[in-house]
Amino acid sequence: MVNAQASLPILFFDSGIGGLSVVKEARIVLPEHPYVYVADDAAFPYGDWEEEALRARLVELFGRLIARFEPALIVIACNTASTLAIADLRAAYPGQSFVGTVPAIKPAAERTRSGLVSVLATPGTVRRQYTRDLIGQYAASCHVRLVGSENLARLAEQYMREGFVDEAAVRQEIVPCFVEQEGRRTDIVVLACTHYPFLVNRMRKTAPWPVDWIDTSEAIARRALALAQELPQPQRQGLDLAFFTSGNPPPALSRLVGGFGFAVAREP
Ligand code: DGL
Repeated sequence: MVNAQASLPILFFDSGIGGLSVVKEARIVLPEHPYVYVADDAAFPYGDWEEEALRARLVELFGRLIARFEPALIVIACNTASTLAIADLRAAYPGQSFVGTVPAIKPAAERTRSGLVSVLATPGTVRRQYTRDLIGQYAASCHVRLVGSENLARLAEQYMREGFVDEAAVRQEIVPCFVEQEGRRTDIVVLACTHYPFLVNRMRKTAPWPVDWIDTSEAIARRALALAQELPQPQRQGLDLAFFTSGNPPPALSRLVGGFGFAVAREP
């Protein structure tokens, strides 16, 4: 007899294509599970949203997503959404298992030699109390510079869709991360937005000096793996589906998600 639970998907969520950087890692450690990808592209970019309005949107949207997909597990592959609303989502949907994505401040603090660490994120993530608390808790002995980027998530979307990005524009966004102080230099930049790993080679190329770029996608995939081990044996059937809240992603985006193993579902 088929175990109905076995075909319940793992739902990956982001405001756009950023969550695909987590999917890429998850496919390696969780290849058998059915996935659903949801991009709230109608509301992209999240970085600019006022907190209360975004929190309300997320709680309402997840109510619909949970009712529709009955996900076995939800991976919020978005720092801007997780740092704002993970606690609200857990409180609103207590029966549901969530994996959040938060800035890798702890590993950065453990790894830095110079003591100068920068966190590159959306303006929303930089403003969050959650982010400040992580710094207070894990990086009190470091000098942490928070850099809120207005444009990088959009540049990453453009790069992934068109294969081209203005390198000078990337450089302009990352330069504030590079600090020199009393003969020491920033040696770690935390990529605290799931869109940014897609631009890391351009960042390396345009950086004023070499640094270690830390992102959380592998750690998130491993956390999902740990939770998925408690689920029934998966049964993946056919292609996974991607949903865009705009209902109308451009063809380049459909091609892109196709490369990650998703077919775009026409209705949101
Ligand atoms: N990918 C998202 C994150 O991890 C946010 C991008 C945006 O919507 O501004 O923060």
